Amino acid sequence: MKKTVVDFRDMKQNEIKISMVTAYDYPMAQSAERAGVDCILVGDSLGMVVLGYESTAPVTMEDMLHHTKPVRRGAGETFVVADLPYLSYTSVKKTLENSAILIQQGGADAVKLEGGRTQVRQVRALSRAGVPVVGHIGLTPQSAAQLGGFKVQGKDLARSLELLEDAKALQEAGAFMIVLEAIPEVLGEIISRSLDIPTIGIGAGRGCDGQVLVLQDLLGLFDRFKPKFSKNYADLGQKVVEALACYNQEVKSHMFPEEKHCFLMDPVIAQELRELIES
Ligand code: KIV
Repeated sequence: MKKTVVDFRDMKQNEIKISMVTAYDYPMAQSAERAGVDCILVGDSLGMVVLGYESTAPVTMEDMLHHTKPVRRGAGETFVVADLPYLSYTSVKKTLENSAILIQQGGADAVKLEGGRTQVRQVRALSRAGVPVVGHIGLTPQSAAQLGGFKVQGKDLARSLELLEDAKALQEAGAFMIVLEAIPEVLGEIISRSLDIPTIGIGAGRGCDGQVLVLQDLLGLFDRFKPKFSKNYADLGQKVVEALACYNQEVKSHMFPEEKHCFLMDPVIAQELRELIES
């Protein structure tokens, strides 16, 4: 049965870890649901791992809607969070309008946006409008350029206190969950303990209330770079290349298709057809 915002809070209280994974299409959403993951994130990471961009900045609302719809169709019984892409939540009005698109047209159950205290107005407006909202702090890929690249955040005292304040402000504004990305384990634990709402870590250590991984990293389907915090549970990239190389070779050597892959015609009709064409 599909989990709810209340279930996620109960899981935190009962110390049951929450599993989240990204997905961007129908078959992978189906697989995630069959595997029993608690929550699917249609992340704007799709810009990098599916669309081949260098960053998440080029991802548009059209992209997010296009990928949220098949995920919803593939995982009807799983809680789906959709990312608000870069520059799609620069005002309260835009935030509400774009969230409405992802929820009403895309079928998402919640939206996620990046940033802490700077996003409090947007988070409060969403929450007041009844939209479940997930925060995202630490390494926030949409502002990676401002952060000096894809770097671990909160390593010094001042920045770690800032991140703690950000997390508290998001909770106070109505976020029901917060993603913590690429921060020291001790900070992940401190933030998680300071909040009533669950934290979902990606490179934020073992003290978070749940974990999220990018699907392509988890399955070994993305090799442009490999984050330290990720874990390969399969090497599908290599398996896909092997399968395609085999197919390529069988086509060229006349091994595929075999008779069992072909549609046969009644031999009498086939003979008539040949004679007709040859006459
Ligand atoms: O876009 C995404 O996949 C994310 C995760 C890295 C949390 O935001």
